[in-house]
Amino acid sequence: MNKLLTLGIVVGTMSVAACVNLDRSRTLGNPSVSGSVLAIQVCSNCHGVDGNSTSPAIPRLAGQQATYIVNQMKTFRGHERSDPAGQESMWGISRHLTDQQITDLAAYFSKQKAQPNPSADTPQLIAQGKEIFENGIPDQNVIACSACHGPTAQGIEAFPRLANQHADYIVKQLNVFQNTQGRPGTPMEAVTHPLTGAHKAAVAAYLQNFPN
Ligand code: HEC
Ligand code: HEC
Repeated sequence: MNKLLTLGIVVGTMSVAACVNLDRSRTLGNPSVSGSVLAIQVCSNCHGVDGNSTSPAIPRLAGQQATYIVNQMKTFRGHERSDPAGQESMWGISRHLTDQQITDLAAYFSKQKAQPNPSADTPQLIAQGKEIFENGIPDQNVIACSACHGPTAQGIEAFPRLANQHADYIVKQLNVFQNTQGRPGTPMEAVTHPLTGAHKAAVAAYLQNFPN
């Protein structure tokens, strides 16, 4: 009788605790919610639970460099990354995240496997993009993208992975670096300076279709 009563109280307490935790885990302002819970409950709505977002305007995070993700989350939180799309989508979400949550979120997404992202671009366009990625545009003083992003576009630490990223998102960011102060203080300002629309479209097509 006593045992049953105790069991009842324990079970009752556990289910209340579970409800409270679930409710709290939806709150971005709660520092005790782990990064992986936030990733699954919040970030997944846009970036995909495995980081392979399907919308071309939402960057893929699967296999992205953890250092790079941490840097970007902090520049959203600190409002240095201020292009309109970033501001609209990411300022509110990052506002109350702790450094620990950001580190955990970065670990979660960097460990996800990037999936292929084939598009309908022509082989000619993709080949032009490969040329720019691997050799740059010597007569315009554009150095090879691979010099910083790595020969297989995997990135390293603060240099982002670009392989399998959506071409639309890549072109949008190249325009931000080239024409705005939305992502200030990076080598990409100089890199993008001489690029034409045709260069951007080609290199983005190559990267989205990057051979896995
Ligand atoms: C409402 C949709 C939405 C949600 C929810 C969301 N994001 Fe984003 N995120 C975006 C969009 C859109 C961008 C691209 C902004 C731009 O174009 O500058 C972005 C950009 C990013 C970037 C920069 C990626 C890069 O390649 O530079 C990171 C990192 C990121 N989000 C992480 C997260 C994390 C972590 C969460 C959860 C805590 C999250 N996002 C939740 C829509 C969202
Ligand atoms: C000198 C080194 C360097 C070279 C060369 C370089 N990049 Fe970058 N790139 C960077 C760094 C560093 C960043 C991260 C900037 C930041 O933290 O905001 C970056 C960011 C980017 C981004 C944004 C990625 C994202 O997820 O938002 C794109 C797209 C990009 N580079 C494309 C290119 C292309 C295409 C080329 C060749 C034409 C190129 N890069 C050459 C250093 C370089």
